[in-house]
Amino acid sequence: EKAGFDHFMLKEIYEQPKAYRDTMLGRIADDGKSVHLKELSMTDDYIRSIRKIHIVACGTAYHAGLVGKSVIETLARIPVENDVASEYRYRSPIITPDTLVIVVSQSGETADTLAALREAQKNGARVLAITNVVGSSVAREANDVITTWAGPEIAVASTKAYTSQLIAFYLLGLHLARVAGTQEQAAVEEIIAGLHALPEQVESILEQALLLKQVAESMAHHKSLFFIGRGVDYAVAQEGSLKLKEISYIHSEAYAAGELKHGTLALIEDGVPVIALVTQELLYEKTLSNIKEVKARGAHVLAVANSGFEDEVAKSVDEVFSIPKTLPILSPALAVVPLQLLSYYASLALGHDVDKPRNLAKSVTVE
Ligand code: M6R
Repeated sequence: EKAGFDHFMLKEIYEQPKAYRDTMLGRIADDGKSVHLKELSMTDDYIRSIRKIHIVACGTAYHAGLVGKSVIETLARIPVENDVASEYRYRSPIITPDTLVIVVSQSGETADTLAALREAQKNGARVLAITNVVGSSVAREANDVITTWAGPEIAVASTKAYTSQLIAFYLLGLHLARVAGTQEQAAVEEIIAGLHALPEQVESILEQALLLKQVAESMAHHKSLFFIGRGVDYAVAQEGSLKLKEISYIHSEAYAAGELKHGTLALIEDGVPVIALVTQELLYEKTLSNIKEVKARGAHVLAVANSGFEDEVAKSVDEVFSIPKTLPILSPALAVVPLQLLSYYASLALGHDVDKPRNLAKSVTVE
């Protein structure tokens, strides 16, 4: 059932191109000009009445929501707040009837996420669920559902469910933007073309997996490491850090690259591995200067860079892994893949149980 792979996690990483295609299927018009989420029951008038959005989830699904915020704010110009589900209902969030609450859950059974959904509905908000399990509790109770068609995810560490959640957010962002009239047609078509290109681009990253195996093996004997990035790269850094901790048990932290010098830079000393995400054209110079700050303190830097800037980045770092060129907003769907592979190979090198890390359950159905 692992289809020739040593672990479910690796199989699921390799299933991502299919998961992307399946999640897009039937939702993008054949002429590549628009996105229609026909499964949504919310009317266009309702969409135009939304004043703010709360995205609520746990763990990796929360990290997908961080990218979702950027996608929705960029495309549909609706303000978005992100919340960890275990915090949401205890902070008395301001939920009004013009708030759309989006819950994100692979399993659809996470106790805190389900409780957040109920809290939102109790306060008169509509809830849209992004989930991978048809008929799950979250899917049954939400007012609307976007199903991610990643197929069953067995490994505790979420991979293809996360990236399919990103695809769902891109589609949702384009759907909302169409109704709200916030994007030029040419921009929409460019994003749709970019979405269609992603599966093959992921395949080309997977072909280079063995490069990451080597890096992971040299990383595996370090006690602690850092992930840095700006904008959506920071969101991806947070996901990369969680994945690494979860299955390799190596301590790591993710930082917004510009925030390091406000304290954390003190931890950078000779040989400390830093993984820097450099995919955003507008932020590229800024991130590069943060990379120079850590290099000057002796860090060993691996950059994950968009092809196009990789030559420039290479001058300032120890290693570069380059990802295919895409639009800035779509880059998380590519940039996370090398980070998934790094975690996998680090866990493997340390001899851990990759698919069933200690202390963790696939689905957290208690508070
Ligand atoms: O099923 P859910 O998406 O609601 O699960 C949320 C988290 O428990 C989950 O993403 C967790 O963080 C993963 N094991 C991370 O790989």
